[in-house]
Amino acid sequence: MNLGLLSRKNTSFIGVDVSASAVKMVELSATGKQQFRLEGYANVNLPKGVVSDGNINDLAVVADTMRAAWRLLGTRAKQVVMALPTAAVISKRVTLPAGMRDDELELQVESEANQYIPFPLEEMNLDFQVLGPLGKSSDEVEVLIVAAKKEKIDDRVAVAEEAGLKVSIMDVDAYATETAYRQIMKQLPGHSKKTVTMILDIGAHITHVNVMVGLQSVYAREQAFGGASLSQEIQRRFGLSPEESEIAKRQGGLPESYEAEVLQPFLQNVASEAARAVSFFTNATQYSKLDHLLLAGGVSATEGLAALIEEKTGTHTLVANPFAGMALANKIKASQLPTDAPALMIACGLALRGVDA
Ligand SMILES: Nc1ncnc2c1ncn2[C@@H]1O[C@H](COP(=O)(O)OP(=O)(O)OP(=O)(O)O)[C@@H](O)[C@H]1O
Ligand SMILES: [Mg+2]
Repeated sequence: MNLGLLSRKNTSFIGVDVSASAVKMVELSATGKQQFRLEGYANVNLPKGVVSDGNINDLAVVADTMRAAWRLLGTRAKQVVMALPTAAVISKRVTLPAGMRDDELELQVESEANQYIPFPLEEMNLDFQVLGPLGKSSDEVEVLIVAAKKEKIDDRVAVAEEAGLKVSIMDVDAYATETAYRQIMKQLPGHSKKTVTMILDIGAHITHVNVMVGLQSVYAREQAFGGASLSQEIQRRFGLSPEESEIAKRQGGLPESYEAEVLQPFLQNVASEAARAVSFFTNATQYSKLDHLLLAGGVSATEGLAALIEEKTGTHTLVANPFAGMALANKIKASQLPTDAPALMIACGLALRGVDA
């Protein structure tokens, strides 16, 4: 008889996305091969200016917010996976001779890095991964070199420690988006290695555009727009504080003119930006059309937005839910999840990195 008393307890991991507007956490555990359970999540707002352009400007506030988010999870797990902003990381694929010893490889990686990193190497953390033999020839291997400013890593490790948590893996925002996309891709109708999907992560100030062909990222850029412009307009029109405007945005209760005079023009603007992102991409690459447009980020849950973007771009558009297909812990409200999930795409990708390692 198996009472499960001696079986190894499933460890869970917490993905932590320290973004411009909030600290977001997602806790996942593995229940089988490629099968996961969402144990909990939290999204706790940060005051304006605490994090900007991927810089943590106030370590104490971020640590406090992380602690608050962790308490909301109601977990004992303390292993977290965090991410560096994509722009803080320089990555390059290089070709090196196969069969080098580890110490030789390290030296070689440093000398390669020296050539293309525009900062002194002592300010950088270098990491590399041998991706495998180049083509069929076995005397050369492809190596991915990743370099990041030490300071950016140290800040993240410091806030986690201050919040009583331990960083197990330091990932990168864009990679986390790709990891979460692997979950979502399974739900796309007729997906294949050739499926072209544009992910639009519409955040507070910035929209991250990432195009995937199958599981490969082929294109990335940023556009300067996001939900903050709507918040500012709400504050200006109705004389509300930043906090009040955030609550009103989500829960309603604004004067009747809001819908037609503030929200609709904003949504039209978002749809135009989406159309712009699509034409930038098709003009700059060999691809002439997209199969899907996947909306992530806090703004994308807004009712009617996906339909508007679909109409404007002529592309099948859907809102990201990286948790679809996962088991849910009892405390998760299944009805609220589709609204909350799009903003948790990166945090989910990070947690997946932990449990799927
Ligand atoms: N339910 C909602 N309805 C409408 N807007 C929302 C909702 N939830 C969040 N937002 C808006 O989404 C934006 C935040 O999105 P998100 O959490 O994806 O940004 P972020 O990740 O903090 O930003 P960035 O990626 O630029 O660092 C804010 O402008 C917020 O007001
Ligand atoms: Mg974000």
